[in-house]
Amino acid sequence: MPNRNLHQKPFDAGTLAKLEIFKLTAEGFLGVFIGSGQSRCMRIQILDFFCGPGLDSQGNMGSPVMLLRHLQNLGKKIQEEGYKVSVLLNDAEDDKVEVLKKNLKETKLDSGPYDLRFANREFLEVFPEEAARMEGAANLVLIDQNGVRQFPPDVFTKLRKLPTTDVLVFMSSSYAWRFQDAPEMQRHLETAKAFGPTTRTKSIIWRLFPSKRGAISTA
Ligand SMILES: C[S@@+](CC[C@H](N)C(=O)[O-])C[C@H]1O[C@@H](n2cnc3c(N)ncnc32)[C@H](O)[C@@H]1O
Repeated sequence: MPNRNLHQKPFDAGTLAKLEIFKLTAEGFLGVFIGSGQSRCMRIQILDFFCGPGLDSQGNMGSPVMLLRHLQNLGKKIQEEGYKVSVLLNDAEDDKVEVLKKNLKETKLDSGPYDLRFANREFLEVFPEEAARMEGAANLVLIDQNGVRQFPPDVFTKLRKLPTTDVLVFMSSSYAWRFQDAPEMQRHLETAKAFGPTTRTKSIIWRLFPSKRGAISTA
């Protein structure tokens, strides 16, 4: 994964749009699992596996701050109904976890109607342990990686089999598209399924069936 420090400058428009998608997803998930009467699951887990430091250079909220603020707003309902809410905030970079702790303290989000767990580990190392804890709970999983490598097929298969689990995965589609034919990329992502035939396959089809050229998009 490219080592990019997105949080030392203001979030760009793409990041803000991504965070809005996360906010709506988290609100939808919590709306269903907390107090809607649609679920009897009392154990709720939110797992932000690539959490970052919580705020950008201008104080815009990243995923952990956004999430904990929403949970604080639901505090009365969580307590009245007796939900057990656990939040995992993990980032491979220890300085980001330290800055996050400081930011949560300053924003008074370091305690609330939730049990906060911090971790400072590589996602693919921490995921199997966390996946075992997800059984029997309602889970919201956020995989906000920078590239594409952190969502291999075995992680997808494991998550797909968990009931009452919502998963939001971000990946760099432009990077995946650009390098779709590279064996390195195909180790991480089935690009033919994601984008249709690879450029190499398309050019073979075009050579064999020139009349079909317009039918197979190059986009
Ligand atoms: C796109 S940022 C996440 C932003 C965060 N969701 C937010 O809203 O501010 C990706 C984060 O993943 C962390 N990271 C990179 N590789 C990782 C890995 N293999 N496992 C866990 N965290 C990783 C980076 O340090 C970075 O903070």
